[in-house]
Amino acid sequence: MVESFDDFDERNWGAGRTSEFSALIERALSRRDVVKAGVAGLASLIEATGVVASSGGSAFLFQPVAANSRDTITLPEGYSWRVLVSWGDSLFPRGVAFDHTTRGTAASQGLAFGDNNDGMELYPLDGDRGILAVNNEYTNLEWLLPSGRIETEEDILKSKNAHGVSFFEIRRRGRSWSLVRESRYNRRITPDTPMEMCGVARGSEWLQTSQDPAGVEALGTWNNCGSGRTPWGTYLTCEENFNGYFASTDDGVHLTARQRRYGIGKRDWGYGWYRQDSRFDIAIEPNECHRAGYVVEIDPLDPRVTPKKRTSLGRFKHENAACVVNKDGRVVVYMGDDERGEYLYKFVSSGRYTGSRENMDLLDDGVLYVARFEDAGGDLHGRGRWIALEHGAHGLVEANGFSSQAEIQVFAREAATHVGATTMDRPEWVAVHPHTSSVFCCLTNNKQRGKAANRGGVAQVLNGPNPRLENHYGQIVRWRPDDDDHAGEGFSWDLFVLAGNPLVKSGLYRGSANITIENMFNAPDGLVFDDEGRLWIQTDGAYTNKGDFVGMGNNQMLCADPETGEIRRFMVGPVACEITGAVFADGGRTLFVGIQHPGEGRQGSSFPGGDDTVPRSSVVVVTKDDGGVIGS
Ligand code: FEO
Ligand code: CA
Ligand code: CA
Ligand code: CA
Repeated sequence: MVESFDDFDERNWGAGRTSEFSALIERALSRRDVVKAGVAGLASLIEATGVVASSGGSAFLFQPVAANSRDTITLPEGYSWRVLVSWGDSLFPRGVAFDHTTRGTAASQGLAFGDNNDGMELYPLDGDRGILAVNNEYTNLEWLLPSGRIETEEDILKSKNAHGVSFFEIRRRGRSWSLVRESRYNRRITPDTPMEMCGVARGSEWLQTSQDPAGVEALGTWNNCGSGRTPWGTYLTCEENFNGYFASTDDGVHLTARQRRYGIGKRDWGYGWYRQDSRFDIAIEPNECHRAGYVVEIDPLDPRVTPKKRTSLGRFKHENAACVVNKDGRVVVYMGDDERGEYLYKFVSSGRYTGSRENMDLLDDGVLYVARFEDAGGDLHGRGRWIALEHGAHGLVEANGFSSQAEIQVFAREAATHVGATTMDRPEWVAVHPHTSSVFCCLTNNKQRGKAANRGGVAQVLNGPNPRLENHYGQIVRWRPDDDDHAGEGFSWDLFVLAGNPLVKSGLYRGSANITIENMFNAPDGLVFDDEGRLWIQTDGAYTNKGDFVGMGNNQMLCADPETGEIRRFMVGPVACEITGAVFADGGRTLFVGIQHPGEGRQGSSFPGGDDTVPRSSVVVVTKDDGGVIGS
């Protein structure tokens, strides 16, 4: 194997880098002293949030990992990783091995693990077996195709087959996990897989197309971002930037304000699906775009069950779906809409979970709510309220453009704007604490905060949980429902962490007190609790390691103690990747982590193969060398 870039870098520039880093630390310390002495306001703000600086009494036993820009995975001492599956690996006995020159065909991709793995969940089978469900959010054309762009129908089909969801069995032998290609559970879901439209909007006029005049059967799912799992053991895959796949061959003359609200425009993102499949041409099928932007429920155990698009959970750019059984048995699903100035939602089922798979349709009937955060005077904590998006309430009536509950579900963003929901800094994953009723949500960043309105025309002014103009760093908001009742309307909130850079920034951009020069990061995105209540944070941010982001290195995964606020860096990913998706198994002794798009934009990665191989999104398995629980 040729010397890696980072080895080369280290050998040639290590000394210089060290001295530069020391200088930065010195500068930061003097700046911090200034902050301590001069910006009393920040200290009191931090105090008010209840966030505690990380000093002494650490809950973590692993040594934190230093930020770096290497093209590999870095873990604490005593931990190891290896690849479980990479983009293009066959999931079936009849598939073929990945070819680094051709990068496969449409047919081979249809039998293989998709690209850009994101949210994932594990469904245990008997013994040491399980079904791993993994979203394949999108594809990087610069790596998918040797030409780097869509030219033929074959290219279009190959790109479609790189999207969707992959289900496959895995088996553990000792500490080693491997893919079981012969399993009857292995399955690819693509943008062409039949789906059923379910819930309130099923059959409504907005879902009717020339191929499906009844508005009850759709084809496929794409841009599947985060995930969720229901108490009854099904998989929830969340359709996020579905808009980027539609184009309008009439130059957009018939585009409606409602389509534009969801980012549908004249041109797609270059995938060209509209050229081969008229569903993606707005000029021909104006309603097809209303059949995407949902949470889709899939049964990993029974491939005969048609995947179901749950319209009662609303249509927006879904990030993930965090399910919790409320104390009264109702099922609550927390969901973010990841776009600048969009909103945070929850769904509360009408029925109660009884512990059986007969509850499979609980997500069809219930109430969708949107969050309004009340600002308690700018001190980074306060109260909030969930507002029901129910037809007839809060002005959601025909005179205001909402003729039915179905119309509210399909155009949930408009309804949320109408009731005065709080514009957020791009809500990404939500995670519910396993032992308390606290809920956390990553607000990844928002460069338009304070500058431009959201797509609905609402000014993105500063507000309680979104307190910074041009927010490049992101934050994590935490709330606790009143009386620990997830179905109720009132809650209290604070900021668990404001990401920032103590090396080069002051005030709120320095970050909250639990951000240090050792653990700083930007753009929190993935968020998962382990069974013991550690909070794992994954990032999808700037990896230039320069300017505002100096000292942060590549995207990373951190572990936080929700009680003390301490945050410690656990993993650094390879060049130009996002780290997204995390699943614990084997009593916390195995951690599956998603490495998405290493080397995106041809940025000099060959992860994981090394040498001159094509960089490939991968799921990796992390274990502790002594066989212990990860993070302990
Ligand atoms: Fe697919 Fe908002 O991340
Ligand atoms: Ca994400
Ligand atoms: Ca993101
Ligand atoms: Ca990404």
